[in-house]
Amino acid sequence: MDLSITVNGIKFPNPFLLGSGPPGTNARVLAKSFEAGWGGAVAKTVSLESAKVVNVVPRYGKLRSRSTGEVIGFENIELISDRPIEVWLQEFREVKKEYPNNVLIASIMEEYEKSRWQELTKMVQDTGVDAFELNFSCPHGMTERKMGSEMGEHPDLTEEVTSWVTEVAKIPVWAKMTPNITNIREPALAAVEGGAVGISAINTILSVIGVDLDTLRPMPTVEGHAVPGGYSCQAVRPIALRMVSQLALGLPKDVSISGIGGIENSHDALQFFLLGSSTVQICTGVMLQGVKMVDELKEGVTKFMTDKGFESVQEMVGKSLPYFSTHMDLVQKMKAAKRSKAGEASRDNEWAQKDITEKTAELTSN
Ligand SMILES: Cc1cc2nc3c(=O)[nH]c(=O)nc-3n(C[C@H](O)[C@H](O)[C@H](O)COP(=O)(O)O)c2cc1C
Repeated sequence: MDLSITVNGIKFPNPFLLGSGPPGTNARVLAKSFEAGWGGAVAKTVSLESAKVVNVVPRYGKLRSRSTGEVIGFENIELISDRPIEVWLQEFREVKKEYPNNVLIASIMEEYEKSRWQELTKMVQDTGVDAFELNFSCPHGMTERKMGSEMGEHPDLTEEVTSWVTEVAKIPVWAKMTPNITNIREPALAAVEGGAVGISAINTILSVIGVDLDTLRPMPTVEGHAVPGGYSCQAVRPIALRMVSQLALGLPKDVSISGIGGIENSHDALQFFLLGSSTVQICTGVMLQGVKMVDELKEGVTKFMTDKGFESVQEMVGKSLPYFSTHMDLVQKMKAAKRSKAGEASRDNEWAQKDITEKTAELTSN
């Protein structure tokens, strides 16, 4: 099955991309992922002055299932890349030369200064990368320097900074959204106003993974203290799916969406395509399972497409969007289907007559 898709004029051999983070943290790991079969990668976010980036240890925290111990949520307080831009420029060139058919997207972030953003854009563009992703979304650490989600939380800044980049960029520009806002359409539309042709969503959700009950310290704990961090992994997927669908329904049709958040297998990826993503990005899933997970992604998506009669990934994009409606409309539809009694029979005063867990199960769809 041909899983390729063309997005913003770029041909992706398949729609599976490493999300910006540890999986794309240097040329060696990027090469390893392309060898393994990933269609593309968004490299770890780079800036002009890596010396200002100092990471802490530990910087990750896990939320586990109570019954199986499986990791269901993941918090990080990791910053953007701490590797010098000169090294990155060299590595972007090498990776692109070695893997011309894989799509290499550079994630960039800078302080609120036009000349800095434009300098970074021009020097990275000269290496031959295929596209930019603007990191307006890192929710911790960088925000203290007014970077990352400090920009993505303010649509006026999102538009202004995007326009600085698109003024000098000759390749497609995607903007990566923070979910830590009320209405994701506002900053996304602002980025589009500024010239972005694609939206990536979502970055991590601001979180506190837990408190150590022995020491009373919030986690992850660094020298006895902590800061809130970014939440990812399967627990965030329903929120990411909701935001992606809102973007797909609310953005101009020619704006592409790269779906991110809690994707761990082909079933998860398919749901993002069906709700409007043309590509998907995976970060925590790769950190926990390794780059080989792309095999199952390809097999599972191929099998689904064969079973359902889809001939291309493009055909699946947004297929489930027409089924969103309003609550009022659902009530009307139940009435039309002569099932209004179902609603009546489950009015709130029923709850006391049955065990609450039994009643919950009765009203659950899956
Ligand atoms: C350890 C870690 C580091 C990350 N670093 C970056 C980064 O440098 N730039 C960026 O745009 N997103 C970064 N992210 C966010 C991911 O790219 C992704 O948006 C988010 O984790 C949700 O997807 P996931 O559930 O597949 O991880 C990072 C995530 C993690 C877990």
